[in-house]
Amino acid sequence: MAQYLVTAGPTWEALDPVRFLSNRSSGRMGFALAAALQHRGHEVVLVHGPVALTVPTGVRALPVESALEMLAACQSVWSACDGVFAVAAVADYRPKEPQQSKIKRHPNQGLVLELAPNPDILGTLAAVKGSRLAVGFALETEHGEAEAWRKLEAKNLDFLVLNGPEAQGAEQSQVQLFAVGGKVCPLGPLPKDELAAQLLQHILPADS
Ligand code: C5P
Repeated sequence: MAQYLVTAGPTWEALDPVRFLSNRSSGRMGFALAAALQHRGHEVVLVHGPVALTVPTGVRALPVESALEMLAACQSVWSACDGVFAVAAVADYRPKEPQQSKIKRHPNQGLVLELAPNPDILGTLAAVKGSRLAVGFALETEHGEAEAWRKLEAKNLDFLVLNGPEAQGAEQSQVQLFAVGGKVCPLGPLPKDELAAQLLQHILPADS
């Protein structure tokens, strides 16, 4: 039995006390993977952004909002984990200076937002992974395959799961699994819980 870290869902990047920047991630794929890992008898720490999902029984959840909070939560548990599955749709940018009070509307004036880049959570964890497992997910609208190989290497991953934008919020998903040695395996379309089980059969075959 091993302990795995799973990140899931979107992040919320505050503009002011009531508004945020985010994306369409539902968190379903990450939650399905957490459940599938737990089902195989592993310990799971699920660091997740704001989602409308129930945490699978037996899974330890650390809920967060922003990318910076997600990074801190992941770093607090990473040394105790045997691998990471990074499924979260982390916002690439956050408002540089979130306002303390609600931004006022000025009907005759536009609003320019200054954004700061968020840290790469998976890249940060995988850079110090040693022999531990690191699995990334990528959603690309173009040059998917080339981007998959690039990210596999750039982020020091063992596997990268590539899906298209139609996976966002959907019940089903169709993916390609890229492995560091050069192997590519198409999986799906399948409901996300079945896809999670199939992904684990490829990624953790020794469990089966
Ligand atoms: O956004 P990108 O395509 O680079 O995401 C690829 C992988 O990196 C995903 O597994 C995602 O969860 C992870 N990631 C992350 N922190 C970021 C951006 C992406 O952990 N800031």
